[in-house]
Amino acid sequence: MRGSIGVFDSGFGGLTILKEIMKVMPEYDYLFLGDNARAPYGTRSFEVVYQYTRQCAKYLMDNNCPLVVLGCNTASAKALRTIQQKDLPTWWSENRVLGIIRPTVENILQRTQTKHIGLFGTSGTINSNTYPLEFAKTDPEVVVNGCACPMWVPLVENGEYDSPGADYFIEKKVNELMEMDPEIDTIILGCTHYPLLLPKIEKYVPSNVAIVPQGRIVADSLRDYLNRHPEMDERLSKNGERRFLTTESVEKFQTSAKIFLNTEKNIEAERVIF
Ligand code: DGL
Repeated sequence: MRGSIGVFDSGFGGLTILKEIMKVMPEYDYLFLGDNARAPYGTRSFEVVYQYTRQCAKYLMDNNCPLVVLGCNTASAKALRTIQQKDLPTWWSENRVLGIIRPTVENILQRTQTKHIGLFGTSGTINSNTYPLEFAKTDPEVVVNGCACPMWVPLVENGEYDSPGADYFIEKKVNELMEMDPEIDTIILGCTHYPLLLPKIEKYVPSNVAIVPQGRIVADSLRDYLNRHPEMDERLSKNGERRFLTTESVEKFQTSAKIFLNTEKNIEAERVIF
């Protein structure tokens, strides 16, 4: 039996990734899982992020997703490798879990002129050092300046991304980052919640600096992956179906998901209890 592409995030952020994936590959079936009850992950320990992510990835596979995308930088930074190397061979060795950091790094390497990169992310992503390590694998000359923004995910999860109060936290972090390294020419929005803050981030970032959200990058990279792996592509169903799962309130998910997916359509969600 063919299955869906699973997309996971700690909360709503992964929907910004799913939105772009669905634009690029509308024909596939998707099963989204947001672990809203336990979000945010960004300030949690390695062990906890790994355990939660592992449980969610396994749940998606148990529900007929042969391919799972961790639409979350924190989970990609802290849990991806262990799941790929330790867990997957014991679950279904022919299934795959993909993260979103490597494709982002590959894309940014082609854009930067100065090789000075700015990175906004959760404390978990920044402290894991995953981005600098991934850049160094390809180009050791790249300088990555990471800036943790612990207030940004709560602003988004609580619907305050557009409020005047959000400006304070955004301006503060943009200034902090640009003062770290004025040669930065490219900023990665290294958290899937941040695209909702983009209009405000643009207000404070100098106009000669590119700000890069990940959705489109991940979508193009996934399409490329499936072109290179026809054996996986053949295991995926293509009926244009979408299903949404949340570990928190279905009502709250349905309201917020419309904002993250930028759609007027009603989103039917189902509750998952671990
Ligand atoms: N959206 C997630 C990311 O990309 C993290 C949000 C959270 O802290 O749970 O890192």
